[in-house]
Amino acid sequence: MEEENTERIPTGITGLDEMLNGGIPKGHVFTVLGTFGTGKTTFALQYLWEGIQRDEKCIFISLEEGKEEIVKTGRSYGWDFQPYLDSNQIVVEKLSPADAKATINRLKSDLPRFIEDFGADRIVIDSVSLLNMLSDEPREKRERLFELCQMVKKVKATTLLTAEVKDENHRSSRDGLVEYTVDGVILLMYNQLDSQEVQLSIQVIKMRRIEHSRKIKPYDITDDGLVVHLEGAIF
Ligand SMILES: Nc1ncnc2c1ncn2[C@@H]1O[C@H](COP(=O)(O)OP(=O)(O)OP(=O)(O)O)[C@@H](O)[C@H]1O
Ligand SMILES: [Mg+2]
Repeated sequence: MEEENTERIPTGITGLDEMLNGGIPKGHVFTVLGTFGTGKTTFALQYLWEGIQRDEKCIFISLEEGKEEIVKTGRSYGWDFQPYLDSNQIVVEKLSPADAKATINRLKSDLPRFIEDFGADRIVIDSVSLLNMLSDEPREKRERLFELCQMVKKVKATTLLTAEVKDENHRSSRDGLVEYTVDGVILLMYNQLDSQEVQLSIQVIKMRRIEHSRKIKPYDITDDGLVVHLEGAIF
């Protein structure tokens, strides 16, 4: 493959990085897609924590969680973001859905400038439904999403957008848009085995320009975050 030697950004998730032959290609915009509670936010924080360990600069943009919640959630997995927030290695930006107008302004003008000045290596947007606030019009939504992808690509930040799946089929995002626009899609699935047991499983659906596994593998959410079991089979 042409770009087999592209620099990789490890996600920090055991098993997944092997499935990706090292990690996400640097500068990619990728989506972690899943239903509620499948571990999207955990994935995102684990990804940022890995960046912190590598002295990278990180930005976390969220609709629901502010600094305090992020620190609390991180600590529950043993990742203490506080000192890195203090030293400005990571920045948490909470956008309030209650104040749509202010949010739109921030997304349109302040944030692009900020991201460029800050020089982020890793960016997380949790979740992409945030962009839905920008417009009701599908075409404009698509343009905004495209703009956002272009913007983070310009600064070469490797960017994770979390997205919720539609209820009916568990493979496409709520507005069926993001998976076409981004460079990579990682799907988190929730399988009801029987009335007693559920199994979580993960699949790399696409990752442009690299060779990767397409196998569906089971994962757990543990005290150390997501762990993918490569030896495991899906039932
Ligand atoms: N320390 C832990 N050990 C094991 N499982 C945990 C632990 N902490 C959280 N979990 C599980 O992980 C789930 C939370 O995952 P997370 O918040 O990352 O999911 P999400 O996909 O972002 O959800 P949402 O769609 O609601 O934002 C919890 O519902 C819980 O089942
Ligand atoms: Mg979440």
